[in-house]
Amino acid sequence: MRRTAIILSFFLVLFQGKAQHESMEVFIDSLMAQMTVREKLGQLNLPVTGTIVTGQAKSSAVAEKIMRGEVGGLFNLKGVKQIREMQEIAVEKSRLGIPLIFGMDVIHGYETVFPIPLALSCTWDIEAVKLSAAIAAKEASADGICWTFSPMVDLCRDARWGRIAEGSGEDPFLGAAMARAMVEGYQGEAFDEKHIMACVKHFALYGASESGRDYNTVDMSRQRMYNEYFPPYKAAVEAGAASVMSSFNEVDGVPATANKWLMTDVLRHQWGFDGFVVTDYTAIQEMQVHGIGDLQTVSARALKAGIDMDMVSDGFIGTLEASLVQGKVTMADINTACRRILEAKYKLGLFEDPYKYCSVRRAASELYTDEHRAIARRIAAESFVLLKNEGALLPLSRKGVIGLVGPLADNRDNMSGTWSVAATPERYSTLAEAMRRAVDGRAEILYAPGCNLMYSEKEQKAAMWQRNIPRGDDKRWREEALEVASRSDVIVAAMGECAEMSGESSSRVGLEMPDAQHDLLEALLATGKPVVLVHFSGRPTVMKWENEHVPAILNVWFGGSEAADAICDVLFGDVVPSGKLTTTFPQHVGQLPMYYNHKNTGRPADTKNWYQKYRSNYLDVNNEPVYPFGYGLSYTTFSYGEIKLDATEMSLDGGEVRASVTVKNTGNYDADEIVQLYVRDMVGSVTRPVQELKGFQRIHLKKGESRTVDFTITPDLLKFYNYELEEVCEPGEFQIMIGPHSKEVRTAMLTVR
Ligand code: BGC
Repeated sequence: MRRTAIILSFFLVLFQGKAQHESMEVFIDSLMAQMTVREKLGQLNLPVTGTIVTGQAKSSAVAEKIMRGEVGGLFNLKGVKQIREMQEIAVEKSRLGIPLIFGMDVIHGYETVFPIPLALSCTWDIEAVKLSAAIAAKEASADGICWTFSPMVDLCRDARWGRIAEGSGEDPFLGAAMARAMVEGYQGEAFDEKHIMACVKHFALYGASESGRDYNTVDMSRQRMYNEYFPPYKAAVEAGAASVMSSFNEVDGVPATANKWLMTDVLRHQWGFDGFVVTDYTAIQEMQVHGIGDLQTVSARALKAGIDMDMVSDGFIGTLEASLVQGKVTMADINTACRRILEAKYKLGLFEDPYKYCSVRRAASELYTDEHRAIARRIAAESFVLLKNEGALLPLSRKGVIGLVGPLADNRDNMSGTWSVAATPERYSTLAEAMRRAVDGRAEILYAPGCNLMYSEKEQKAAMWQRNIPRGDDKRWREEALEVASRSDVIVAAMGECAEMSGESSSRVGLEMPDAQHDLLEALLATGKPVVLVHFSGRPTVMKWENEHVPAILNVWFGGSEAADAICDVLFGDVVPSGKLTTTFPQHVGQLPMYYNHKNTGRPADTKNWYQKYRSNYLDVNNEPVYPFGYGLSYTTFSYGEIKLDATEMSLDGGEVRASVTVKNTGNYDADEIVQLYVRDMVGSVTRPVQELKGFQRIHLKKGESRTVDFTITPDLLKFYNYELEEVCEPGEFQIMIGPHSKEVRTAMLTVR
């Protein structure tokens, strides 16, 4: 009976799905039959919006174009009223009344801002990441947005690149898990009014730009692409991402935006992507500068490669008609792209109700709610990574005198971090404000800015991106801070990068703490008072000196709108830190690119005699990081038992082995621990990494509690792309590793036959 019911419901679902698909096809066929070539090209056009004041949409620069049917969508326009007005122009004033889609860089939250994506990944908490995306979608959709340019899933192993802040770090397995979670969070099960289209970006390999310089050339073996850099994009596509954004960089000598192999062969044929592809901002225009032709040529090449929508270049709308006449593109090429955009609008339900995402009522009640803020605060606290805690200096007790110093101690504008287009920082707290609230009169808080972000002579240059960080006289501020220090029992130094020192076009070659801050920190340490460094950053920085000299370091990234309260939650022990690094922190910038999951060489460095000649090391620094991938401390301690495998052999044909380890909370706090599984394929037909993350679990253990954590290993988990780019699991020996981070693992051997 049950089986029959399941079969029947299966056919019902299939039938309904087919009917829906057919009705979409019929609808779009009949719509396209009425469209002129120009109107079709209009759907492929995503122009820049410009500033639009409420009530003035009709007189805006793009209004004319919309009325002529020359616009498919708009982006980064904030406010439901303005968006509704623009939609009215499209629906009521254009010949066919085709609704627009409204996109935005909703990267890590909307008005409720979550930690920057790099920080989010340090939670290793898939449900939390998914929830953050779902809340971002709920708020954005309440304010008129139906499409986000997120997730950014570019793997990055070079901290010089500022956009490392926007991704999930250096690991393909974790990156893929994060990519899936974000797509599922944004899009939900279906596009109801609270879910929006995701856009996976930047396809592809943007995070591997040479020397960490933004937009720079990428040249990479297919081996590395398929095994290391592609998995997060593929995972996002498999999770059903509705759109993909092409990247600025070139791949194999062709800019991604004109790269047919990437956009069609890999994306559509190999991965089965059936959504639409939009370019990055002016990426078509920029191909002229890359040097592959004039605007007409590059526009035709982009369309032919598989691009469906042109962001800002005016290349499609401006040149494709001529290319059609000259036979450089076909009507079929244009129809294919146009159909994909119309399908997206259909699936969003915009033909049924163009104002589905334009509810003024929702906008008034669903943004920056107490519930969303409480969740953002919890997730922010989960993302912080305790790097050092000598003598259990942290948590602080709420008593005595706390001296709070540093350029980021009393600033609200930097809390949200890079790419927070919809942020409303005037409503966010500074750390000083949150700290006063947190101690609630039980301790005294003294505050001094202490130093400029950078020394005054460098400041001029940096001022434009400092987001209201207080500025003053270096010498006088130092004296004031030392005076505060002398009156304090403990010093909390809020220092590091400001928000705009990471993100797009924010690459840096020096990743040490800016000198003005370093010098103040040194002076504070010299007072002999205990110092806690609350370190803000959008990337892994070089913390060799800090690790040697500062007793306690909490890396707080940019934690979003609720960051200040979340920092206090951790500082005062209301929340026990649990975040772990998803990128390696180097000892020297010259080690970059640096990542734990590297290959061996024929002459690996000897860890003890690392300075030897004829080994793969530097002469002046060993190959170790300051903080490795997966690392992060807690206020409690955990012990790990030996690994137990329920079999030491596994069949290639459907085999399965359980690897377990017992973890015990041996300290004094109930806390979360992130247990990590790594493997090493000892011998392969091609060289294999020395270590690869293959599983992780976040568990909660009360003090004194132990738990056995199980991981299931299957041949599928051990697969990789061989020289022929076939996905295989090869028989042989595998080292299984489980531990609290990549450099501290228990091991066992498994044979696959
Ligand atoms: C960035 C994209 C972003 C786009 C639209 C570009 O400069 O590279 O990540 O989505 O602008 O704002």
